[in-house]
Amino acid sequence: MKESILGFLLEHAGKNTVSFHMPGHKGSRLFRSLGYDDAVESLVDLDITEIEGADNLFKPETIIRETMNKYKEIYESRESFLLINGSSSGIIASIAACVNRGEKIIMARNCHKSVFAGVDMAGAEPVYVYPNVIEGFDITGEILACEVKKVLDENPDGKCLILPSPNYYGICSNIEELARLCHDKEVILIVDQAHGAHLKPFEIYTEGGEPFPKSAESQGADIVINSTHKTLCSFTQSAVLNIMTRAVDKGRVEDCLQIMESTSPSYILTASLDMNADIILQRGEELFGKWFNNLNYFYAEADKLSGINVMRYSMLDFSKINIDASELGYRGFQLEEELRKEGIFSELVAGNVVMCMTGIGNEREDFDRLLEVLRKLSAESEGRLPEHLSQNEKGGCKSSKKLVNILKNKPERAKAPRCKKKIKLEDAMGEVCASAIIPYPPGIPVICPGEKFTQELIDYLIEISSNGRKIIGIGADSEISVGK
Ligand SMILES: Cc1ncc(COP(=O)(O)O)c(C=O)c1O
Repeated sequence: MKESILGFLLEHAGKNTVSFHMPGHKGSRLFRSLGYDDAVESLVDLDITEIEGADNLFKPETIIRETMNKYKEIYESRESFLLINGSSSGIIASIAACVNRGEKIIMARNCHKSVFAGVDMAGAEPVYVYPNVIEGFDITGEILACEVKKVLDENPDGKCLILPSPNYYGICSNIEELARLCHDKEVILIVDQAHGAHLKPFEIYTEGGEPFPKSAESQGADIVINSTHKTLCSFTQSAVLNIMTRAVDKGRVEDCLQIMESTSPSYILTASLDMNADIILQRGEELFGKWFNNLNYFYAEADKLSGINVMRYSMLDFSKINIDASELGYRGFQLEEELRKEGIFSELVAGNVVMCMTGIGNEREDFDRLLEVLRKLSAESEGRLPEHLSQNEKGGCKSSKKLVNILKNKPERAKAPRCKKKIKLEDAMGEVCASAIIPYPPGIPVICPGEKFTQELIDYLIEISSNGRKIIGIGADSEISVGK
């Protein structure tokens, strides 16, 4: 077949690959094993519109309402909205529903770009809280309660707090404590749980979910947005927004969702949300139990491998496996390449860390194939560094450390510029950013409009773009937008 989107997808689907990336279902294997062959086979015929009897996402009364009720049961929510434009749409709608133009929103500086978009669209004034850093792995960690308390005290007019938990690497924050701090000041707490839709089912089916951190739903958040497509088994772009408390104006959230979502909601996506809910409710015990056992098995086996460092952390959603093989001389992108050569596709590379995102659809054989490659690398490198790496490359990736420093050294801020011009990235020192620059993944802006460029940031961006990283906000001729 000629090179095309369909051609690529069909070719990829025909290969015997292992998915440690989104979506969480990992292909038709899961659905077939659970007796959903009909759905898999007739996918194209399920693509309809709001005909008689099909209900309506924007006025749900029958079958769509029933699916919403299933999510209310799973997440114990006051209301659960089905999203067909991803968590992104739920995040933007939630912000619009909770803050008015000119009001303050307190947000984690490592929020996803949809949060920055939502704040911008709502005309709200952002106040940043900076994340902790996980030493050794040099990745962003949790949002500490002491930091939030300080910002809340300094900004008594803040209306709402939004943060990711888990973040892209799986690090969760102590939502219970944050909820208490927020509620003491009548501040609404929105948790972007895009990466943690599975936390609540784990609580239900694996004796409280230990050692998983608790879900935001169980810890007092007001609104929680879950990308069920990332780790569970609804299809890409489907998600669920849960309203948990009476502090939130449900009608206003609904109105904002009507603005954000396509007026032609895909029935394939809403049906996949229905399947996902049924699978959790009817087969949850078996599936979450299996996933849990496979994870425990993987971590125990990986622990035996010298030179392979798999991240453990008390606040880690350990379904995200963060692997560092720098002791063997492999930087993140090299380890990712070694895995890919064996047909294993990971989700994210950050510095020395390769993150393998597991999901409800992963089987024991997937974990075994990952272990097989890690065992091989560990054995081959025993007592020596791989030839392609020199001694001074061992054990450290500068770019990740630089990013952490950039986030730690809070950038100088000016007002977001109105007049914009394009200049070369290398000439940007001291200029005010006009369009956010966002390496993808993880989709966290490293500089936002109104922040000033530092030499450290410029060097970091030059380094990661020369490593082939996709960066939104830098043009083909390494042009960026700055202004006054
Ligand atoms: C932390 C975080 N929040 C929100 C989103 C948006 O989720 P979705 O892709 O479902 O729109 C992402 C996407 O990767 C994310 O990483």
